[in-house]
Amino acid sequence: MREQLEELKKQALIDLEATQSIDALEEVRVRTLGKKGALTKILRGLGKVSAQERPQLGVLANQIKEAFNQALEAQRSRLKQSALASRLQAEQLDITLPGRERAVGSIHPVTRALDEITTLFTHMGFPPATGPEVESDWYNFEALNIPADHPAREMHDTFYLPPAFDGSKRVLRTHTSSVQVHFMENRKPPIRMIAPGKVFRCDSDVTHTPMFHQVEGILVDEGVHFGQLKGLLEVFLVRFFERELPVRFRPSFFPFTEPSAEADMGCLFCNGKGCRICKNTGWLEILGCGMIHPNVLDNVQIDTELYSGFAFGMGVERLAMLKYGINDLRTFFENDIRFLRQHATVGGE
Ligand code: FA5
Ligand code: MG
Repeated sequence: MREQLEELKKQALIDLEATQSIDALEEVRVRTLGKKGALTKILRGLGKVSAQERPQLGVLANQIKEAFNQALEAQRSRLKQSALASRLQAEQLDITLPGRERAVGSIHPVTRALDEITTLFTHMGFPPATGPEVESDWYNFEALNIPADHPAREMHDTFYLPPAFDGSKRVLRTHTSSVQVHFMENRKPPIRMIAPGKVFRCDSDVTHTPMFHQVEGILVDEGVHFGQLKGLLEVFLVRFFERELPVRFRPSFFPFTEPSAEADMGCLFCNGKGCRICKNTGWLEILGCGMIHPNVLDNVQIDTELYSGFAFGMGVERLAMLKYGINDLRTFFENDIRFLRQHATVGGE
């Protein structure tokens, strides 16, 4: 039996060493130490051995078991090591490959211009206000001294909506001047505000889009005059463009202001020589303004004997076009990603 045991030990260790996988290793273990394993079988014959020999053989069997287990564990960790090594080899990562860059969004140039304009006026004491984009006839026209048969309604190529449930007319506001009325009707002078927002007109060419943005502004108080309006707008333009640029005020007409003016900036695309964008005039209109008409103040119960006010409404895309050198206003809304990238800014500038 001793020889049998020695022989078994030799063979089992050779078998262990020859294994190439954890599965094969397990097989050798079962074949040797399992219930029907070789060692178990030999030990079952121990009963037939003389009582004298039995303890020594028992000790030997245990030594063999221990040696086998040790060799088993050593082989197991060798196999694990080499499995890991070959996996690392197979799944090798090339850490020198450049990473994939993530596209970062940016502020749309119109939003940027709107933010800048709003900030500049807020700093000068004009807090921002809002009003609805779907307006009644009253706020968009009537209260602003534009009666139904007034030719000024033609100037605004209005988008009419189906009438409201009470039959009253509804329009997409054609200018932010409607916010003047909302704001003044519940307040007493002194009144100051600006109203940035979307407006809508049936219009489309290099300097017109059907949806665009305006920033309205008003100041109503005792003794307000045109000189202050002009001064405020001139200061604003220098701050917005961060340099002095040619600006002119030209007499104009709006039913809701008297006197009225429009302001033009020298066309930066042709340096005033005349081009497609300024329609060969050398100037680009950026805003309308004037002293608020007494009829408008009457409509919001402001005493015209005591108070006067000025108002202005500027085209945000026109200002953005000039500031960022964009030669077709329609590109703002085409959402061409190349255009947006070209005018992208980093962070919330
Ligand atoms: C008005 O809308 C007046 N409500 C402005 C005003 C306010 C006058 C307060 C007096 C007192 P106008 O239609 O000119 O005026 O438009 C104002 C500005 O909006 C224009 O100077 C121009 O810069 C811009 N604008 C007008 N139409 C378009 C358009 N279709 N696309 C882009 N910008 C436009
Ligand atoms: Mg105009």
